[in-house]
Amino acid sequence: MAERAPYDLVLRGGQVVTASGVVTADVAVRDGKIAALGADLPAGRVERSAKGRYVLPGGVDSHCHVEQMTAAGIMNADTWESATRAAAFGGTTTIIPFAAQHRGMDLAEVVQDYHLRADRGALVDYAFHMIITDPSPKTVQKDLPALIRSGHGSIKVFMTYDPLIVDDAGILKLLQVAKAEGAQVCVHAESHDMIHWATARLLAEGKTAPRHQAESHPRLAEYEAIGRLIALAELVRHPVMIFHVSTAEPLSLIRDARARGATLWAETCPHYLFLTDAVMDKPGTEGAKWMCSPPLRTEADQAALWQALRAGDLDLVSSDHAPFRYDASGKLAAGPGATFKQMANGMPGLGARMPLLFDAAMRGRLTLPQVAELGAEAPARIYNLQDKGRIAPGADADLVLWNPEARTVLSDDTVQDGTGYTPYPGRDLIGAVEAVYLRGQPVVNEDRLQVQPGHGRFLPRGGGDAAIWQEKAV
Ligand code: URP
Ligand code: ZN
Ligand code: ZN
Repeated sequence: MAERAPYDLVLRGGQVVTASGVVTADVAVRDGKIAALGADLPAGRVERSAKGRYVLPGGVDSHCHVEQMTAAGIMNADTWESATRAAAFGGTTTIIPFAAQHRGMDLAEVVQDYHLRADRGALVDYAFHMIITDPSPKTVQKDLPALIRSGHGSIKVFMTYDPLIVDDAGILKLLQVAKAEGAQVCVHAESHDMIHWATARLLAEGKTAPRHQAESHPRLAEYEAIGRLIALAELVRHPVMIFHVSTAEPLSLIRDARARGATLWAETCPHYLFLTDAVMDKPGTEGAKWMCSPPLRTEADQAALWQALRAGDLDLVSSDHAPFRYDASGKLAAGPGATFKQMANGMPGLGARMPLLFDAAMRGRLTLPQVAELGAEAPARIYNLQDKGRIAPGADADLVLWNPEARTVLSDDTVQDGTGYTPYPGRDLIGAVEAVYLRGQPVVNEDRLQVQPGHGRFLPRGGGDAAIWQEKAV
């Protein structure tokens, strides 16, 4: 029998972290895949000691906005290159951003345009969710089925935002198509009318500063919309992914729906776990840096979200990276006298997500296996990226070496994305990314980028199991 070539790479003696536990092992890589895990594996062409390091799966960030235009015509702060650079330096090797249709746009052309830009710029691997704002007959009957079949296995819809909102009839229609075609449906669930009502009152009272944006999205708006969304999903009997849960109350809706047999998923994001709306209380317009929707909430919400992550009521942590510079190209595009309503929502997070989660494990808020699950394995599994997010033979060798003895201090001067600021200035995190491998090749090594734009690959995928309503006996 022909002798097999030696391994291409062996990472020796690290603490290998998966969702099931932490073991001391060598990780061997061949042809971009994990070939073996174990003790005293044969030599690789490249050998690297991982002693004293944790080896985690490359992060999978399943909700981020890259080179995406807002409905008001503001381009976000990143190019594909800068966004994926931030991802890579932060230990994330796969992203699922959006191909965003605005009203009147042809969905097939939109998706093609995003592909062209991603293909040129991406440093890490990627898939797409398609944002649908215009469920016209052509979109729903022709473009969407064809795009789902060509590997775009999920869509996102908004239950709020004036030019983006899809009403309940539209959501039902899209759930039906997604069910027929086997696609996943991700939803921004906040009540449009409640936000509209609260915003009008605040503006009429002269409460126009960014900190009032948090009040303009009442917590009931999230509760009501998540409840309604779950009902729509149960009616069609097609699963939904509830994006960016920010408050405590909907967690009981999620638990109750699951208890009566509904199939659904839910995520939260680092800014809801690590920040509260108190951070927006800044002079002038500076609070705009922390404006996002749903907005930042309270310490009690934070505690409930942490508990929900530990209990499995929330399935994963995505960044909802939505970067806008704090200048006239981004947050301040509407000029110095602008109200919060005229400012772009969103903050950066691609680079900070995994370091914040790793730090949370070092401080005992999560376990390291939970970090592997919430930051990599669960998003890969739920979004049907079968080769991603896990350290196991046959999976892509997307591996990150973390040094638990080093520190990462987040600051405006060191952000890798195009935003120019971090929402977490001065935060001193335990642990640092030492090396990042994508399909067995080094992408980052000791603070240096090792690959060129275009290195990232598109990952075609269907909706997978997460697009199938599991009939459960309750
Ligand atoms: O504030 C945010 N998150 N902006 C991005 C769009 C969205 O709602 O996900
Ligand atoms: Zn959203
Ligand atoms: Zn988002």
